[in-house]
Amino acid sequence: MLPGRYVSSATRPRSGDGQHAHTPTVLFVDQSGELGGAEFALLPLAAACAARSEVVLLADGPFRGRLEASGVRVQVLNDARVSNIDREALRLNWLYAAPAIIRQVCAIAQQARRFDVLFLNTQKALVLGALGKPLHRRQVVWYLHDIMSRDHFGRVQLMIVRLLARHVADRIIVNSSASAQALIELTGLPASAMPVVHNGIDASVFTQLDAGDLPALRRRLGLPETAWLAGLFGRLAPWKGQHIAIDALPELPHVHLVLVGGALFGEDAYEAQLREQAQRLGVADRVHFAGFRDDMAAWMKAMDVILHTSTESEPFGRVVIEGMAAARPVIATGAGGVMEIVRHLENGWLVRPRDVAGLVEAIETLRTTPELGQRLAAQACADVQRHFTLDRYLQQMTDVIDHARR
Ligand code: UDP
Ligand code: GLC
Repeated sequence: MLPGRYVSSATRPRSGDGQHAHTPTVLFVDQSGELGGAEFALLPLAAACAARSEVVLLADGPFRGRLEASGVRVQVLNDARVSNIDREALRLNWLYAAPAIIRQVCAIAQQARRFDVLFLNTQKALVLGALGKPLHRRQVVWYLHDIMSRDHFGRVQLMIVRLLARHVADRIIVNSSASAQALIELTGLPASAMPVVHNGIDASVFTQLDAGDLPALRRRLGLPETAWLAGLFGRLAPWKGQHIAIDALPELPHVHLVLVGGALFGEDAYEAQLREQAQRLGVADRVHFAGFRDDMAAWMKAMDVILHTSTESEPFGRVVIEGMAAARPVIATGAGGVMEIVRHLENGWLVRPRDVAGLVEAIETLRTTPELGQRLAAQACADVQRHFTLDRYLQQMTDVIDHARR
């Protein structure tokens, strides 16, 4: 995808002058410098709009380099006192952080004034960007990547988001119908106020990778060449359920588990727990911690099956469509956005959240009936190439941005 592919007339960010004869310019704001799913969703969009946009990150990290490598202009507006406010500490920290919050609101507003549209990609970005609306008076587009419920968030955060979604955001885009449903329940806004845009990926990155010589691929990745491998992809976090997959291993003596992903948002204690759990269950020699990896296609193709084990409803689940694009059978938690991707026994296998026995049965069935796995994987790969394309995603996203008006 070439930067600027979807740009029509505007080529440079301009100061907003109230004229919309051309494609609006956009300031994207994301709270994280890490490479999480929301950031991977923003990356191709910011690249496609590179000629008429900039990105503000509220923390530095590898995401900045990825954006810059795609031709995107990036600024980091970091303030540790704001970055450190997490949902548990929200009530305790806000007084201490108030001056820094005000400074961040003003700094974002100052940047936003140079553009037509302010696009907020995460919740902290929503709060800081929306609070500054009286200062910047720009169209606020909020892209929601989360299921806004008590399973995932604290009361104060839900209350703040409810207010901002109802009274400040001009446009809301949601990453799945599941995320939309939770937001409808929280805000009372109608479904028509929040178009669903499913993530899209460049499936050719997966389909073009030749994994014909599987032992060689595994050797290159440092994986056991002949073992039956179940891969679980995603950041290490309790709600991603890596512990559920480890719990299944004692019942699956022929299976090795490969955990690909890092503790991106400070979940190092959880990683230590997983290692301890594997030791305690006597399966540590069959659990491979690969850490964060860049080459998802190679790692996914190296697997016999791909697992998704989130214990709560997954808002969307990029790793699920990536596993499908890699033409590997996917076993996923049947809840949330995943229900909009996977159809049980048609293009994958759905298991109830936290259902270890169900996971064991699914893995063992696919291990012993490879033709079933091949059928599911072939259908999955076709479905991703049909629906979850990057072009469709970019078109839908830019449509919303381009129709935003002051
Ligand atoms: N990912 C990656 N390297 C890793 C683990 C994950 O690049 O080691 C990517 C993965 O390919 C996916 C994203 O991180 O695109 C995770 O997105 P997802 O929507 O699955 O989950 P999130 O972390 O956003 O909840
Ligand atoms: C969030 C969600 C994930 C989704 C991603 C991209 O990080 O946790 O489910 O796939 O955003 O929208």
